[in-house]
Amino acid sequence: MSNKLAFFKPKVQIYEKEEEVDELVSKLVVEQIKKKSTSVLILPTGSTPLGMYERIILAYKRGEVDFSKTTIINIDEYFPIKKNHPGSYYYYMKHNLIDSINVKVENWHIASGEEPLEKSITMLCTQINKIPIIDLAVCGLGPGKTCHIGFNEQGTLSTSTIHFVKLSEETIKANRRLFLNPKEMPKGAITLGICDILRARKIILIAKGKAKAWGIKRTLTGQINEDAPASYLRYHKQTIFVLDKEAASLLPNDILN
Ligand code: GLP
Repeated sequence: MSNKLAFFKPKVQIYEKEEEVDELVSKLVVEQIKKKSTSVLILPTGSTPLGMYERIILAYKRGEVDFSKTTIINIDEYFPIKKNHPGSYYYYMKHNLIDSINVKVENWHIASGEEPLEKSITMLCTQINKIPIIDLAVCGLGPGKTCHIGFNEQGTLSTSTIHFVKLSEETIKANRRLFLNPKEMPKGAITLGICDILRARKIILIAKGKAKAWGIKRTLTGQINEDAPASYLRYHKQTIFVLDKEAASLLPNDILN
């Protein structure tokens, strides 16, 4: 399949400091909502987007942006996990964004880690399939050599839609530290598939820090295939990779626009 798909020279923007990445990406999100208040966003979790969320909240508090008609879809959630577990992405989103802006709860879609698996997947599919246009997807990049987006681990096909994932050893090792009791980290997750993410009209991938340098090089300069699910973003003409200097440190000069 990959042979038949067009791919594009990725747009790459590199900033000296990680705060500049946060500044740019939060501005792009805010501009999107100002231009189209009914925008549908796919949003990520992790440490990378925290600065972006802080700035989005500040813009909201200054009265610059109104989320009352905006829809937010979360890219992934652990499974199984209780919503009120501090390690859940439900908890993360509520505390880092949702509770601080005026998005309507019924316009926020995130996989449930509490319902039976089939039911949870069906519920999210039903919600997402009713949405005709996804305007903007913001993604982080998985740790180390995973090159995952959402929880689309190595081996995921470009045709994938919402699905259950058995997390890789590398992901478990990297994300365990985020759980107060590492033994409570689930071994599975529900994620939007590559196809769902590529539906967005525009995509932004953010990566910061030296720990992402290998993954960024593989994603942007290696083959587009299931060994690096983030590389599928190069099939999308409107993808921007927004990186700090350290995440970009292994990139060859000719990748720069
Ligand atoms: C997890 C999430 C991803 C996220 C990644 C990066 O694995 N499933 O959606 O992009 O973490 O996390 P961090 O930003 O903390 O490096």
